[in-house]
Amino acid sequence: MLIGVPKEPREGESLVAATPDTVGKLIKLGYEVCVQAGAGVEASYPDELFREAGARIVTAEEVWGADIVTCLDSPGSAYISQLKQGATLISRLNPGAHPELVEELSQAGISALAMDAVPRISRAQSMDVRSSMANIAGYRAVIEAANSFGRVFTGQVTAAGKVPPATIYVIGAGVAGLAAIGTANSMGAIVKATDVRPEVAEQVESMGGQFVEIPVKQESSDGYAKAMTADQEKLALEVYTREAAASDIVITTALIPGRPAPLLITKEAVAAMKPGSIIVDLGASNGGNCELTQPGEVITTENGVTIIGYLDLSRRLPGQASQLFGQNIVNFFKLTTPEKNGQLVLNMDDEVVRGVTVTLAGQIMWPPPPVKVSAAPAPAPAAKANDEVASPEKAPATSWRTPLAKLAAAALAMWLILSAPSGTQGHFFVFTLAVIVGFYVITSVTHSLHTPLMSVTNAISGIIVVGALLQISSDSLAIWVMAFIATVVAAINIFGGFTVTHRMLKMFQRS
Ligand code: NAI
Repeated sequence: MLIGVPKEPREGESLVAATPDTVGKLIKLGYEVCVQAGAGVEASYPDELFREAGARIVTAEEVWGADIVTCLDSPGSAYISQLKQGATLISRLNPGAHPELVEELSQAGISALAMDAVPRISRAQSMDVRSSMANIAGYRAVIEAANSFGRVFTGQVTAAGKVPPATIYVIGAGVAGLAAIGTANSMGAIVKATDVRPEVAEQVESMGGQFVEIPVKQESSDGYAKAMTADQEKLALEVYTREAAASDIVITTALIPGRPAPLLITKEAVAAMKPGSIIVDLGASNGGNCELTQPGEVITTENGVTIIGYLDLSRRLPGQASQLFGQNIVNFFKLTTPEKNGQLVLNMDDEVVRGVTVTLAGQIMWPPPPVKVSAAPAPAPAAKANDEVASPEKAPATSWRTPLAKLAAAALAMWLILSAPSGTQGHFFVFTLAVIVGFYVITSVTHSLHTPLMSVTNAISGIIVVGALLQISSDSLAIWVMAFIATVVAAINIFGGFTVTHRMLKMFQRS
């Protein structure tokens, strides 16, 4: 099938939906790719690079007539009408907010896939264009703040005196917020952050920020926040106002899907900020998280606070943003081209494919059935306990089986110890203690420390291999088999550990 990559029709759009790198990957999946002349120029990808990657450089007419067209946003009626019957359009479509567009796509008889509707589940992360763009926007928000801020971010002790570090407060620790926290932290600022979802506190800390609690805590089943009540909003605003007044820079990224941006910084809060402070409002396109934001503009208030309301933060890094967008598209094609034969297969049983399908050969498929995200909190233990109480017939089954099984295991262990040669009884004792201590140590280690833990278990595996090799020459078949199994299992642990460590180190390599 032929994939067409047009020059973006939207005025001022600097991104392109594929780069020479991603074109190469699409060709490896068996597709032919054509790119409209000049499509990547704004993102610093000249036609020559696309040609070298294997794409044909063609006219607009040919691109829009391809089997599959991938672009940034809904191209508008003039271009939708140029798509051929049965073609597939892959782009951001925001179908929830544009029922008229869904109708138009259906009338055109095409399959339309909305890449901004990728469900927030772990498996789909590599295809989530919203996250890619928000990540870039979070980074760029800090750069814009640094550009307007009259001081350095990092604390210094110089011959001319001490320079205090800048303090940055991020409200909303989703994708953009976490990217902003990481960037500001790496530039040497002291970063604080708040979110209504308390489960993100650990993520804030892992990015180098300090989590500021608010008296409002929301449990999220879909990874998104919900609107607050008036009372909750009042309590939260008190915290935001206090922290903003104590900070040099405030970055707001709060989002509630399908609603205007929640108000986080009132004009009174702005008035209480220090002269020279900066607010970067990522919610500007949704009305703004700050009461005084002018969407698309930079303004300075009477008390000297600069409010940045740019709507194009990701477009300010067009090369990088295009590469991430294009890679998201490649990852989607990997999912939908199982045979790597250049044939798109839209499997409606796959929740990611179903989630993005707005129309299928003209048939309206929107909205998709809800998807339960992996970040959803586990059911409350109280509810579990209630369930158990509510089904009395289940209770006796577990009440006698578990102790009986434990008793049987203890009796077996006892028999093994007593029937073993006297010299090995001490070993059994050490082994039992090691199992108990090991269980409690390993289950108490937090997830973030599992890799260093693996290095320690590598050392233990090394000891096992040495012990097993010493035993492998034994005449007893049983000992030989056990030594062999021990060597293989310990070796898997060692080499697996090295492989994982190698992959993790590669993630930190600059090239
Ligand atoms: P996200 O959904 O991942 O994160 C938003 C976070 O805000 C969530 O963690 C949510 O719990 C939190 N939140 C919601 N209401 C809150 C409240 N009242 N107080 C504290 N926290 C609250 O969204 P993502 O992808 O990080 O996007 C953030 C914003 O950035 C969106 O508004 C998006 O439209 C915008 N954006 C702006 C761009 C620009 O150029 N200006 C470019 C890309 C994204």
